[in-house]
Amino acid sequence: MLVQLKSAKDIEKLRQANLIVSDVLDICQEMANPGVTTWDMEVAARAYLDKVGARSAFLNYAPGYGIAPYPAVLCTSVNEVVVHGIPSKSMILKEGDILSVDFGAFYKGFCGDSARTYEIGKVSETAHRLSEVTRISLEKAIEQMVAGNRLGDVSNAVQTWVESQGFSVIRDFVGHGIGTAMHEPPQVPNYGPKGRGMVLNPGLVIAIEPMVTEGHWAVEILDDDWTVVTKDRKLAAHFEHSVAVTENGPLVLSRR
Ligand code: MF3
Ligand code: CO
Repeated sequence: MLVQLKSAKDIEKLRQANLIVSDVLDICQEMANPGVTTWDMEVAARAYLDKVGARSAFLNYAPGYGIAPYPAVLCTSVNEVVVHGIPSKSMILKEGDILSVDFGAFYKGFCGDSARTYEIGKVSETAHRLSEVTRISLEKAIEQMVAGNRLGDVSNAVQTWVESQGFSVIRDFVGHGIGTAMHEPPQVPNYGPKGRGMVLNPGLVIAIEPMVTEGHWAVEILDDDWTVVTKDRKLAAHFEHSVAVTENGPLVLSRR
């Protein structure tokens, strides 16, 4: 399947969807305190979707035969959970946790997708550093979203920075093109050599989502079919933005 470049009109609609996503992540950030459950956030996110007339991109998402459809509008991934943690009334946040919240929504036919990692109260030095290194890795990737660069420049920016800080990049999950579908080509790995891969042209829109671990990058999936945890049960962090290449450089659609 070919990579579809987006018109200025498409990008405006992607912007609207992504602003809704950003609002929901703001709401979750506000709630990210000890004693709150990840289900409380799920309820708040559903209420916001209803209010603005948008549709979840995650709820009932079914990647393949024999895998249970995703049961929530948020992914809430705590500590050793890398991505796709399912919101739960029994997951009560506590001081020292790190929580990544991932949210996607369709609005006027276009999809927005973004994620952030939050610190719950005061966290360990390592947890804080992991979260910051991951957040900064996404900024470094965004800087590479310039016409004439290659996709490998984006991937390599994440890997080089993360590994220079002593952390590891997840191999088994990648970012993706995004448009009228949540997952479009190209795949966007967070590792690989620079100077390789497709040339970035204005109109390319991708969701860049570094997933970074404190220890080894190997992961396993729990019996619920979704929850991705580090094999060594060390911490993981995740940030994501939907980003367009424009004539004037990178445009971060999921940031106000
Ligand atoms: N941001 C993730 C992704 O792009 C979230 C998907 S959760 C799912 O793949 F349930 F929709 F799969
Ligand atoms: Co995504």
